[in-house]
Amino acid sequence: MTNDPPTRRDFLKVSSAAVAGLAALAPPRAARTGPTTTRVRRNWGKLDPSKPGDKKVLDQYAQAVGILRKRSEDDPRGWQVQAGLHSYRCQHGNWWFLPWHRMYLYYFELILQDALGDTDFALPYWDWTDGNQLALPTAFRDPTSKLYDDRRRGEVNDGSASLDWSFYDQYYGGVLNYVVNLPDFVPSFGSPQADSFPGLEQTHGPEYEHGDFEGGPHDTVHSWTAGNQQPDMGLPAYAALDPIFWLHHANIDRLWNRWRKDSGHLNPTSNTWQKQPFAFYGSDGQPARLTVEQVLDTHADPLRYRYDDE
Ligand code: C2O
Repeated sequence: MTNDPPTRRDFLKVSSAAVAGLAALAPPRAARTGPTTTRVRRNWGKLDPSKPGDKKVLDQYAQAVGILRKRSEDDPRGWQVQAGLHSYRCQHGNWWFLPWHRMYLYYFELILQDALGDTDFALPYWDWTDGNQLALPTAFRDPTSKLYDDRRRGEVNDGSASLDWSFYDQYYGGVLNYVVNLPDFVPSFGSPQADSFPGLEQTHGPEYEHGDFEGGPHDTVHSWTAGNQQPDMGLPAYAALDPIFWLHHANIDRLWNRWRKDSGHLNPTSNTWQKQPFAFYGSDGQPARLTVEQVLDTHADPLRYRYDDE
């Protein structure tokens, strides 16, 4: 054994063995009734450790990550299987990019709530559009923390690197403006239309291009964190092994709500898009699924969550 990261193939072997049961089982049942209260996803960088309520969120995320990491590598509610779902089921470069990741976070959040025994827990988000949050959040840089990942770039983990949005600053008045003013869901904000679901094994094929949001700010944060095409964050097969992945995607998800709200942008109405189901695991470890049309309003059932700026 060496200390080298597993190759992509090794990683897939582990994760596909672990997840192989999913396809073999009976068709996933429809989503159960979701949470009964609206949970609030909060801005990680604005949480104040001197306030007990804020400190609770900061601590809970690390605690939950620790619990999932201890679960066995074939436990559907464990860290490896959850990250493994991203290695070969994630939707990239097509118009399911945003809803697929929304569902992925939702189920992950239910699993964290269950691990913590706290149904109020909500995933925080990393608002990298905020000029004060351009470095990796401090807690993730502490080598003794569950939130640390030693496969990030050295400058990211020592806090000397900052995301550079100068291109967006210069031409669009900032990265936030750029994102919320992207004109159309297809192909710009939500990535290009796909005529049919590309299939579980073909999520990163060359057939589609990343849209402007996905290929711009989204991909930038991934490759900035780990290096382009480098594990963990820079490669889809590994990305969700880094605890910052989930906060990055909560921010992506928040910006989708923001894009909709700020200027009356519209989601696709096509049935091909809206009726597409995707399968995950529920907090009981059993297969569960949602369709795109079920996740378009995060404030309503079954999702029932909102962001703290909504
Ligand atoms: Cu499926 Cu940001 O990655």
